[in-house]
Amino acid sequence: MFTLDGKVAIVTGGTQGLGGAYTSAFVKLGAMVVIGDVRDDEGAEAAERYNTLAGGKRVVYRHLDVTDAAQWQRIADTAESEFGKLTTLVNNAGVPGRDGIEATTETSWAGTINVDLKGTWLGMKHCIPAMRRAGGGSIVNTSSTSGLVGTGRGAPYCSAKGGIHALTKTAAAQYGLEKIRVNSIHPGLVDTPRNKNISDEWRKEMLRDTPLGRMADPAEIANAVAFLASDAASFMTGSAMIVDGGMTAI
Ligand SMILES: NC(=O)c1ccc[n+]([C@@H]2O[C@H](COP(=O)([O-])OP(=O)(O)OC[C@H]3O[C@@H](n4cnc5c(N)ncnc54)[C@H](O)[C@@H]3O)[C@@H](O)[C@H]2O)c1
Repeated sequence: MFTLDGKVAIVTGGTQGLGGAYTSAFVKLGAMVVIGDVRDDEGAEAAERYNTLAGGKRVVYRHLDVTDAAQWQRIADTAESEFGKLTTLVNNAGVPGRDGIEATTETSWAGTINVDLKGTWLGMKHCIPAMRRAGGGSIVNTSSTSGLVGTGRGAPYCSAKGGIHALTKTAAAQYGLEKIRVNSIHPGLVDTPRNKNISDEWRKEMLRDTPLGRMADPAEIANAVAFLASDAASFMTGSAMIVDGGMTAI
């Protein structure tokens, strides 16, 4: 139904989990991808794997700590130097922050807010000039159901993801006339490496609160992100796309 032919994307946290699924879907749909992550061995291996399968250079990996402005500038430049332009940014890298209000320390607060929220802002700040040079683009920022509703735990995480929800809307308002669309994605519980360690009790609670009664496969979230990145979503900006098996419907 839609294609990413001609798109050049940066996917942060693209070596595993949701970011890995986005990279895979984007390559299948015709995009070139620059993966940015802090896991350099895995990133280099992933790029090599995609390029071998494709029989040409479709993916490059660059070290990117999303909290570092200089590294953001370098990766935006890489998209242009390796693939000629930058049309698409998926701000996906994130870390959890699962403590409640009193148990959260200043260190854990800063850790989650810096990666999840500051990293998303820095990404837009440093990639938008290249998207402007490309004549427009699409940004997908990764929030969560936790950016929409309270969970009773995860104070820094909910704050970061709620911030991403609002930041997305203000960026959409600022850049619409420059043909840069900005949307947020709000996954429910997804079967990724980070969720291997959650307690059985929490998992049961989350699944009980999910009408579809299961975790998402990362590919199910990737379908939605690829759509937002494509021209099929040309009239969508400032939207919060919820892909949560119905969790926030009840
Ligand atoms: N898995 C879920 O259930 C779920 C639900 C809602 C939202 N999300 C969000 O989706 C995104 C991806 O989640 P996931 O489950 O795939 O996580 P994950 O932990 O499996 O993968 C996260 C990736 O981000 C990278 N990363 C971490 N810190 C980084 C930094 N400072 N700079 C660059 N890269 C960094 C990691 O190396 C890793 O490759 C996150 O933002 C997460 O909050 C996940």
